[in-house]
Amino acid sequence: MANPHLVCIVGARPNFMKMAPLLRALERHPEVRVTLVHTGQHYDANLSQIFFDEIGMRAPDVSLEVGSGKHGAQTARILERFEEYLEPAIKNEGVSRVVVVGDVNSTLACTLVAAKLHVPVAHVEAGLRSFDRTMPEEINRIVTDALCDRLLVSEPDGMKNLRAEGRPESCLHLVGNIMIDTLFEMLPKAKEQPILRDLELAPGTYGVVTLHRPANVDEPEALKLLVNVLCKVSARMPLVFAVHPRTQERLKNFGLDQNLAAARAIRVLGPQGYLPFLALTSQAKCIITDSGGLQEESTALGVPCLTMRPNTERPITVTEGTSTLVGSDTVLLEKLLGDVIDGKYKSGKRPELWDGQAARRMAAILAAA
Ligand code: UD1
Repeated sequence: MANPHLVCIVGARPNFMKMAPLLRALERHPEVRVTLVHTGQHYDANLSQIFFDEIGMRAPDVSLEVGSGKHGAQTARILERFEEYLEPAIKNEGVSRVVVVGDVNSTLACTLVAAKLHVPVAHVEAGLRSFDRTMPEEINRIVTDALCDRLLVSEPDGMKNLRAEGRPESCLHLVGNIMIDTLFEMLPKAKEQPILRDLELAPGTYGVVTLHRPANVDEPEALKLLVNVLCKVSARMPLVFAVHPRTQERLKNFGLDQNLAAARAIRVLGPQGYLPFLALTSQAKCIITDSGGLQEESTALGVPCLTMRPNTERPITVTEGTSTLVGSDTVLLEKLLGDVIDGKYKSGKRPELWDGQAARRMAAILAAA
């Protein structure tokens, strides 16, 4: 049998820190050939290139440069361009498997192309479900998992969800959380970053904010409520708001950027690189976010996380970790921030298999089949 050839896909910011440790772990299996494809879903330097540089990921072998667009248009461009790459690659080089991570549009599109060309697909971070189909990522997760035959799962709820969907045991592998591999590896380097000094912030005294989900930032009223409450709580705790480009656009369009600029205890920054951002989150008093990845990172770091979503596909961050679901309840947000400041907020524990070794376990599975 020919040596395995894995085609690994990245597309958007949260993919890079999941793929980097896997690529490194696969280097320990020299019989495995790896091709890295970047769809270009995220293309801004601060959302893409900086992660390659900081976390030491090698340059992609193939760039599809699909760029932004509505979900249908963006997904369609990935489908078209990935098929243009994959079909001849199967003929000329042989492809034994495609590997996708997370739940972004690139994950879904590349899985669909591979499945139709009869290439088996492995999904890293399989089985997560919010049971909320208004989230584009939930659709991506369901369709991706349905088409994959290697489901690499980060937490026991993921196994439960996949079993409930009738997936056979032979496809399921509880391997732990690979994003936490990168976090542990990068933490010492992150702590050397000058960002706290530059922002004149002392460790353990400030909150970090990120918001980018359509449910929070696309409706003027919802975003206004959130901005108001952030301005209010910043009187008790200084905040650092790292603003995603889509949120930046909405703040400007809804005239809310002025409100933020006027709040002197809120530092408004653009998207940050991995290291400065980890420097901020790891030394924060509290994190306020609607990001899935950040819910997990705060649990691994033991930092309180107030999650501005009504549900989560990562329930272990609530049941075992440091996260609480706040939804859009700004009164609850204020109360919980008070608890954090007064030292009354719960402390969590790090889930099993979030131990920095997930990539090694995944690589062994992928190298074997
Ligand atoms: C995507 C993922 C989301 C993930 C997030 C992390 C999907 C469905 N969503 O959302 O799960 O949490 O990435 O960041 O895949 N833009 C830029 N520069 C870029 C990329 C995007 O300015 O490099 C702007 C564009 O205006 C674009 C908008 O951001 O229209 C949204 O980008 P898109 O890739 O569609 O989704 P995200 O909101 O980033």
